[in-house]
Amino acid sequence: MKAMVYYGENDIRFEERDKPVIEQPTDAIIRMTKTTICGTDLGIWKGKNPEIAATTQAKTGAFNGRILGHEGIGIVEEVGSGVSHFKKGDKVIVSCVSRCGTCENCQKQLYAHCRNQGGWILGYMIDGTQAEYVRTPFADTSLYLLPQELNEDVAVLLSDALPTAHEIGVQYGNVKPGDSIAIVGAGPVGMGCVLTAQLYSPSEIIVVDMDENRLAMAKELGATHTINSAKEDAVKRILEITGGRGVDCAMEAVGVEATWNICQHVVKEGGHLANVGVHGKPVEFALEKLWIKNLTITTGLVNANTTGMLMKTCCSGKLPMEKMATHHFPFSELPKAYDVFKHAADEKAMKVIIDL
Ligand SMILES: NC(=O)c1ccc[n+]([C@@H]2O[C@H](COP(=O)([O-])OP(=O)(O)OC[C@H]3O[C@@H](n4cnc5c(N)ncnc54)[C@H](O)[C@@H]3O)[C@@H](O)[C@H]2O)c1
Ligand SMILES: [Zn+2]
Ligand SMILES: [Zn+2]
Repeated sequence: MKAMVYYGENDIRFEERDKPVIEQPTDAIIRMTKTTICGTDLGIWKGKNPEIAATTQAKTGAFNGRILGHEGIGIVEEVGSGVSHFKKGDKVIVSCVSRCGTCENCQKQLYAHCRNQGGWILGYMIDGTQAEYVRTPFADTSLYLLPQELNEDVAVLLSDALPTAHEIGVQYGNVKPGDSIAIVGAGPVGMGCVLTAQLYSPSEIIVVDMDENRLAMAKELGATHTINSAKEDAVKRILEITGGRGVDCAMEAVGVEATWNICQHVVKEGGHLANVGVHGKPVEFALEKLWIKNLTITTGLVNANTTGMLMKTCCSGKLPMEKMATHHFPFSELPKAYDVFKHAADEKAMKVIIDL
C-alpha cells in the first residue's frame, strides 16, 4: 500500500509500505476513506518531535520510518478476536487517541496517557492514518461508529482538531458565560476553539493570527474581534479591547514562543491560560509578572473524552464545521496536499481533506 512516511527532520516520503496486520486481539484494520494533515504533522516534519525516532530506536533497536497521520475515517476491514463492538464493513471515525479503558489513567479519563501503550500513538509511536490501511489498537474503545447523517469531512475533524480545541482549549480554559477570551492561532485547532467556546457563551472572542484568510473565517464562525499580529501589537490591542483588564482566558493554539508570549501577557487576574500548541523549544515564562495574578495555567494532550458528545453536537448542526474543509485531494496527491497545507496562507487553506 502507499503511505506518507516520516524518516527525520525535513524528510518525509510518499512510498510503498506493507499493509498492516492484526497484532493484538483488540486491534482492527481500517481501510481509510478520508484522512487529513494536522499542524502536528507539519511540526513532526519540521523536526519538533525527534523522540519518534529516538524512542523507536531505543525500544526496537531500529527506526525504519513512521507512517504519519492520526486523523481520518474508514471502513473496518478486519477485527481481532477480542473486538466485539465493530465488524467488517462498519464505517468508523478513528480517534487520534487510543485507549485501553482499564488502566489507572484511563479510569481517570486521562486517555491521552493510557498506560497500556495507548494515548496518542497513531502516526507517532506506531504507524498512522496517512495510508491506505491502518492498524488501530483497542478498537472497541478507540473507534466511533460514523453516524449516517454526519458530513464525512466534519467527521474527519472529530479525530483530533475538534476534541483538542474543546478539551485542551475551552474546557481547560474554563470558558464561562460572559467571559472575554483570546484565541491565539486560527488554524483548525484554533478555529475549533472559536466554535466550541461558543457552546459556553463567552461575550468576547478575540482571535489572533497572521493569516488574513483564516482571520476572516474566524469572524465568520463567531469571533467578535480579530487581530493580525504581523501588523499590530496583539497584546496592546487585546488590552485595549478589554478596557485594559485582559481576558478571562487565553488559548495558545500555535506552539511557538511569540504566541505563548501574547497569551502570558493578556490574561487578567484569576484567569486561565490554556496551552494547546505543541512546543518544540523552551519559552520564557514571565513568572516575575505572573506570580501575583492568581492564574491557572494548563497544558495537555487531547484525551478525546468529549468526542462522542461533540459528534452528537455536529450531527445536530450546532457546529458549522463544513466550512473548514477548504481543500480536497485524491490520495495520490498527498505530497501536494502537504505542500498546500504548509503554505496555508498563500493557498487560503484551512483543513485539507484527502479522499481515498
Ligand atoms: N495539545 C494537543 O493535544 C494538540 C492536538 C492537536 C494539535 N495540537 C497543536 O495545536 C497547534 C495548532 O494546530 P493546527 O492544526 O491548528 O496548526 P496550523 O499550523 O494549521 O495553525 C497554526 C496557526 O498559527 C498561525 N501562526 C503561526 N505563527 C504565528 C505567530 N507568530 N503569531 C500568530 N499566529 C501564528 C498560523 O498562521 C496558523 O494559522 C499545533 O502546535 C499543533 O501541534 C495540539
Ligand atoms: Zn493532530
Ligand atoms: Zn489505558
